[in-house]
Amino acid sequence: PESDLTAGRDASSIGEAREAAKGCRRCQLWRNATQTVFGEGPESAEVVFVGEQPGDQEDLAGKPFVGPAGRILDATLDDADIERRKTYVTNAVKHFKFEPRGKRRIHSKPNAGEIQACRWWLDKELDLIKPHVAVALGATAAQALLGKAVPVLKMRGEVIERDDGLRVFITIHPSLILRIREPADKDAERGRFLKDMRKVKQLM
Ligand code: URA
Repeated sequence: PESDLTAGRDASSIGEAREAAKGCRRCQLWRNATQTVFGEGPESAEVVFVGEQPGDQEDLAGKPFVGPAGRILDATLDDADIERRKTYVTNAVKHFKFEPRGKRRIHSKPNAGEIQACRWWLDKELDLIKPHVAVALGATAAQALLGKAVPVLKMRGEVIERDDGLRVFITIHPSLILRIREPADKDAERGRFLKDMRKVKQLM
């Protein structure tokens, strides 16, 4: 089917929006991905966590943050006394973008056009949930939530209020922690991420 820009327009619940997003053709990423990975969590959530895009495991499972980055997120939320099942977890871009390398599928960054196209769904989710705070996990999420690129490492821990009143909390993407090899550096970054999540708890 050609791109249908009306699908999901009248969705009045997250369930309806998720159903409509299954056939999304707003950009080309659906072609190679297994499925749309929509957000997950209660519509009554006080906080919405926004990642970049589903990874390899999320693409197969159809759920956000179930792979290695998700385990970091889970552990940190746990330490910060935030119950993930009471939060809503989603991504800026809802199809997995990758380059095949042998049998592996290597994550590749969504571009501005893809982020913009998928922003329609993120806006829909935020509109239905109306959280007290949205947490941008990394630069792609920050760009999607704020409509412009922001320096995440400089602004982490800060709250930016959008024109519509939504408070956006800026922090890193948990996959950053996965990429740090030096144990002391990794621990330090874990500590900073936990500190950010404790601030999020205060904003809920
Ligand atoms: N990274 C993301 O940004 N989102 C996921 O769902 C998984 C990994």
